[in-house]
Amino acid sequence: MTLLLHTNNQDIQRAADILAKGGVVAFPTETVYGIGADATKSEPVDKVFAAKKRPHDNPLIVTVSDDQMLRRFAKLDQRAEQLIAHFWPGSLTLILPLLDDEILPSNVTAGLPTAAFRNPKSQVTRNLISLFNNPIVGPSANLSTKPSTTTAAHVMHDMAGRIDAVIDDGPSQIGVESTIVDLSVPDATILRPGAVTADEIAAVIGQKVIDPSSPITVAKGVAPKAPGMKYRHYAPSKDVVIFQAEDAEQLETVLKSSDAVLALTDILAKFDLPKERSWSLGKDANSAAEELFSALRAFDDRDSVQRIYVQGLAKKGIGEAYMNRLEKSAGGQHFHLE
Ligand code: TXA
Ligand code: MG
Repeated sequence: MTLLLHTNNQDIQRAADILAKGGVVAFPTETVYGIGADATKSEPVDKVFAAKKRPHDNPLIVTVSDDQMLRRFAKLDQRAEQLIAHFWPGSLTLILPLLDDEILPSNVTAGLPTAAFRNPKSQVTRNLISLFNNPIVGPSANLSTKPSTTTAAHVMHDMAGRIDAVIDDGPSQIGVESTIVDLSVPDATILRPGAVTADEIAAVIGQKVIDPSSPITVAKGVAPKAPGMKYRHYAPSKDVVIFQAEDAEQLETVLKSSDAVLALTDILAKFDLPKERSWSLGKDANSAAEELFSALRAFDDRDSVQRIYVQGLAKKGIGEAYMNRLEKSAGGQHFHLE
């Protein structure tokens, strides 16, 4: 049985008690929902891998309530201090060297001398972690390979019966996971784009930031820097195809009755589609990022839909994070005019 908890003090205390007993609790953040367990003990962390069916060579984010808690585990250089002062709490995850190799269990770090640290905006989640007084792991609360979850209902869809509880704090505002920046290397490097952009990071640290704009490709035998990036990701069981706004009229003429379209409101208006085959991404890249995973999940559960056409957006600001997730969902499939 998976308990549905709310954000009152009594329920947060209950969640902290579950964590203290080595249990697993899904928690809200402004990006997506996460799955928490005591990050300092390997058995609770193993339960998170099992619940998600996540491969063990993929390390987990460590979620802290504030920078004081972070300092118990990681070495901070000047760049880390500046970024924390500027962006925490918020949607920026830092890869930092650990104080010593054994300070976190090896299933959290996948044996790396570094770990990923995040301090989410959610006051509820930060209260939970400070009550518990230990960091909690925080991978996205979805089955491995599936789109991340942005509501407690979606968490229940994937995790009911697999974890002890979910804290419902309404929909996540941002909708795509945090930016990951690697500070364990001389030049700060973006490993995953998110709401905080490379330019914003560069402005704060006053140094260049490496941002591989193309999806991270993995050479055979070479360990990828963000190990999670090599796996199939954000993928519904339906076919996902990216289309460009200027191809909307053409796409409309070839659409099948089993196709659905996901687009910004003005582009969606060019299609004459029933509700169950269309989903608005709102007016811009911010709303598109917020809606993407919900929409993919909704169509995934709709038997009449076989293929989902999703509008591509400019890779600027949060549009870069949106396109990074969409390209992975689509496995590189694009709509081309014949
Ligand atoms: O917004 C988020 O970051 C969400 C919320 C719940 O906090 N969490 C999240 O976690 O997206 P997850 O586990 O789905 O993604 C974490 C990524 C993975 O790709 C993992 O490989 C990478 O971070 N990662 C973890 N530790 C790392 C390390 N030491 N070095 C490089 N990459 C690391
Ligand atoms: Mg994930």
